[in-house]
Amino acid sequence: MAEKLLIAGNWKMHKTPAQTEEFFKEFLPLIEGINNVEILICPPFVSIPSAVEATNNSYVKIGAQNCYFEKEGSFTGEVSPVMLKEVGCKYVIIGHSERRHLFGESDELINKKVISALEEGLKVILCVGETLQERESGLTFTVVETQLKLGLSGVEDNLDRIEIAYEPVWAIGTGVPAQPEEAQEVHRFIYQKLGELNPKKADQVRVLYGGSVKPSNAEAILSQPHIKGVLVGGASLKPDSFAQIVRIGSQLSG
Ligand code: PGA
Repeated sequence: MAEKLLIAGNWKMHKTPAQTEEFFKEFLPLIEGINNVEILICPPFVSIPSAVEATNNSYVKIGAQNCYFEKEGSFTGEVSPVMLKEVGCKYVIIGHSERRHLFGESDELINKKVISALEEGLKVILCVGETLQERESGLTFTVVETQLKLGLSGVEDNLDRIEIAYEPVWAIGTGVPAQPEEAQEVHRFIYQKLGELNPKKADQVRVLYGGSVKPSNAEAILSQPHIKGVLVGGASLKPDSFAQIVRIGSQLSG
C-alpha cells in the first residue's frame, strides 16, 4: 500500500535561480525534521540546479513542470527527460492543464512524454481534469477517464512510478477549490479506473488534488480517503504557506 502523502509545489513561471535560493533558505528550517510526508518542488527549468543544490541535504525532492519526449535533437526550445535526470530531477509533471489549454498539448503528445520520462527513470505526475464547461455539461467523468486512459496507454505496468493529479481546470488559480467531497468523488473514480488498468499496482499510485489548495483548506482536502496528496500552485510560492500545508499533511499522517 502506498506511501507517504505527496505534498508538491508547482511554481509555474515564477522564481529566478536567486529567488529559488532565497525560498529554500526560509523554507527548509520551517519543515525541518518532517519525514513522514514526501515533499516535492517543481521550479522553472533554469531554477532547477539552484533548487537541487539548496535541497541537497534535505528530504525535499525537485522535479520539472514539463519535458519533451525525444532524448535530443533539433527541437528548439525543448528539454528532454535525460537532461532533467542529469540535473537532479526525480519527477516531472506532464499534461498540466496550462500545457493542455494554453499550449495545445494533446493526449497523444502527453502519452509520448509519459513513456519517455519513465524510460529515463523519472517519476511522472500526470495531470487530468475537466473544464467548467465540461463539468456543467456532465462530462467530468468522461473527460477524466479519457485523459487517464490515453495518457497512460502502454505504461499500465509502470503504475508504481506514476502519480495522478486531479486538477479541475475551473479550480486552478481561481481561489475557489473543489469541495473536498466533490474532489473525493472524482478521486474514487480515478482509483477505480486505475484498478481496471492494473489491479496489482493501482493502490501504489498517489492521486493528488490540485486547484486553489491553501493552508486554510488543506486539512479538509487531505482528510478525504482517496486524496493522497496535493499539487499546489500559488500557495507554494511563499515559504510559510507551503510549509503550513506540509505540516498539515505531516500531522494527518502522524
Ligand atoms: P493553484 O494551481 O494552486 O494556484 O490553483 C495549482 C496547479 O495548477 O497545479
